Amino acid sequence: MEAILPLSTAGRLPVPADKPFIPAVPRSDTAEQEEPGYPSLSPYQARPVSGSTIISHNYTPALPVLDADKLDQEELEARINKVIEDYKEKLQLRTDHHMGYPYNLDFDYGPLEGLQKYCINNLGDPFIESNYGVHSREFEIGVLQWFARLWEIELDDFWGYITNCGTEGNLHGILVGREVLPDGILYASRETHYSVFKAGRMYRMDAVKVGTLETGEVDYDELKQHLADNAARPAIINVNIGTTVKGAVDDLDRVLDILKETGYTEDRFYIHCDGALFGMMIPFVKRAPMVTFRKPIGSISVSGHKFVGSPVPCGVVMTRLRYIKGVSSDVEYLNSRDATIMGSRNGHAPIYMWYTFTRKGYEGLRKDVEKCLRNAHLLKAMLESAGVKTMLNELSSTVVFERPREEVFVRKWQLACEGDIAHVVVMPNITIRKLETFVQELVESRARVAVAEALKLAESARAANASDDE
Ligand SMILES: Cc1ncc(COP(=O)(O)O)c(C=O)c1O
Repeated sequence: MEAILPLSTAGRLPVPADKPFIPAVPRSDTAEQEEPGYPSLSPYQARPVSGSTIISHNYTPALPVLDADKLDQEELEARINKVIEDYKEKLQLRTDHHMGYPYNLDFDYGPLEGLQKYCINNLGDPFIESNYGVHSREFEIGVLQWFARLWEIELDDFWGYITNCGTEGNLHGILVGREVLPDGILYASRETHYSVFKAGRMYRMDAVKVGTLETGEVDYDELKQHLADNAARPAIINVNIGTTVKGAVDDLDRVLDILKETGYTEDRFYIHCDGALFGMMIPFVKRAPMVTFRKPIGSISVSGHKFVGSPVPCGVVMTRLRYIKGVSSDVEYLNSRDATIMGSRNGHAPIYMWYTFTRKGYEGLRKDVEKCLRNAHLLKAMLESAGVKTMLNELSSTVVFERPREEVFVRKWQLACEGDIAHVVVMPNITIRKLETFVQELVESRARVAVAEALKLAESARAANASDDE
């Protein structure tokens, strides 16, 4: 059983002894790489060191709070306006050049703009109103019922809530699993999102990291072996409906078969489906296996700011009502029940989701999914015709390809990299035009690297045999 690393007391992960520690680079020391054709970019994401798994952490620069006591009112207003205008410009530029993270940046919530002046908070259980009246629970329940239909669970049988993100959904799903099966062992594949193992650490669970296949799916044989070895204890299994890096979908039916073959009855396992990105897409993909509560699963979670497109991070977690009793308690001062991970909850998020689902309907979402899959195949074909090695899982819009060598390119397009691979997660905002620009710049970047490497050979030859050049 693989031990899970505890967090050190300083709150930082221990540095493995065989890896040199790369200290964080203060903002002022981080020289910006200027390359022809690239705007100057500040280092707003972790800068990976090429060809290594070591990450150099860049400190975030501070935007100091303006000193209202020292500025006259007019100057203060002018300075505030300038900061906000500059920031809007930066946001637009970065939105235009975003490819690496699974965020649908194509949305228009214009009619909801006036809501910003309200502090909408759904603290407590969504189904039980609290004393705080400025909430959006009616939207929240409407959205949850929409998901209940999508995931095929009776309205009387489910419980769920709108979370602050997919991570919170995972923390909740695994917690419910642990409460249902207190002695259970947590199983999740090596390519599972880090939040699942974080849950295991938080709840002090025994956890097994299972190997993966080339596609990124869990290694079913290895899972079976672990389950057989630990048959005396119940199993809490995280099934990935789209892994973070390769977009791999674990085969839920096969996992259920394995449980049956290894003698686990339904009261001795709990399955949490992490569908942060693809959980929202898979119901609209033809020939994809169904993720549904008609199967013996315990919970599903998705992110709301990914495929759905929301200007604030959010998500949904859903479980069976009968399971929730173990994680809930009444709170007198709320006049509600505590059954969520967070206390205060963003009441704007359910309204964004309600608005999107109402405007698009199932049909609109299905068209968005089709567009993503079509453009993912297009990107794969374009990259391959340009000589870039790629991989695209059948049920995914995550195009994996060789990691670009120019860091400035990685940062410009905000690519998420791991080892020698990078990926583009094709979302509805990624148009053919954007793909054209991206591929063209990638090809140019690769050519610059190739030329530089070839010339470096000539340079070392010249250094070794100076007379040859005469
Ligand atoms: C598979 C998977 N699970 C969970 C998460 C966490 O989601 P969030 O960023 O909404 O917390 C991610 C994020 O990318 C993910 O890819």
